Amino acid sequence: MSTQSAAGITVEDVTLSYGSSLVLASVSLALRRGEVITLLGPNGCGKTTLLKIINGLLHPSRGRVCINGKEITRMGQAELARLIGYVPQAQRSSFPFSVLDIVLTGRMPHLSVLAQPGEDDVNRSLRALELVGVSHLASRPYTQISGGERQLVMIARALAQEPGYLLLDEPTSYLDFKNQIHVLKMIRGIARSQEMTVVMTLHDPNHALMFSDEIVLLRKLFGLEGMAERQGLPRNLVAVGDPLEVMTPENIKDAYGVDVEVLEVKGRRILLPA
Ligand SMILES: Nc1ncnc2c1ncn2[C@@H]1O[C@H](COP(=O)(O)OP(=O)(O)O)[C@@H](O)[C@H]1O
Ligand SMILES: [Mg+2]
Repeated sequence: MSTQSAAGITVEDVTLSYGSSLVLASVSLALRRGEVITLLGPNGCGKTTLLKIINGLLHPSRGRVCINGKEITRMGQAELARLIGYVPQAQRSSFPFSVLDIVLTGRMPHLSVLAQPGEDDVNRSLRALELVGVSHLASRPYTQISGGERQLVMIARALAQEPGYLLLDEPTSYLDFKNQIHVLKMIRGIARSQEMTVVMTLHDPNHALMFSDEIVLLRKLFGLEGMAERQGLPRNLVAVGDPLEVMTPENIKDAYGVDVEVLEVKGRRILLPA
């Protein structure tokens, strides 16, 4: 294939099964650089799996992922680490490092082998903590902060890494109402100002509507009863593109099997369970 869309992520014909259960079947996507892309869909439809494939943590049985026109399997670990930041769904906490030390590990891909982080790395890490709104936690042990605080710290760590591509798996799942909005606004702001590409998974369709340039709406390959009637090969993608075009009651029904009503309030579209 040609490198027609050099800047950005292309997912081509990606297929993955766990054992005998097919999760992703021939998924193709072109994600443009500098955009905020939200993966949305029911539990178990393959959002985390897709993020891990884009990150090179899982290898598809078929298909490939290119970033800026280069296949990720041709990149070394160091090259991938400089390019992609990844905040997984669950935040493990085993060693009692300070929050600042944890954020500093985000600077590793920029350091030469055996080099210690310097003043500049510390400053960038402190700035990332400030952006996220948790600089007051800098000297606290990471093992002694709350789940939500941990999530904020891991987002700060990914920002300290200053990646061109940021993958966030349910970044708001442990956050309170205010922090959910704060984080999503901040992420979008950085995407705009620094041409950072964000691919994230969310559960709240209204957040997806508010903060995404593009939505990828997925369905579970096998799960919804309607699947039996569908013709041809199983397909993961319900709709991809402009949030207002993707988030229709028909598409939501197709993905989740639930009925929603669409309201227009102050020029914004809001989805409500019917
Ligand atoms: N390591 C694994 N081994 C076997 N099955 C898995 C594994 N990881 C995920 N799955 C299954 O694959 C499907 C997709 O999982 P996942 O990508 O985590 O979904 P999502 O993030 O959309 O909730 C689910 O049915 C899940 O149970
Ligand atoms: Mg998941």
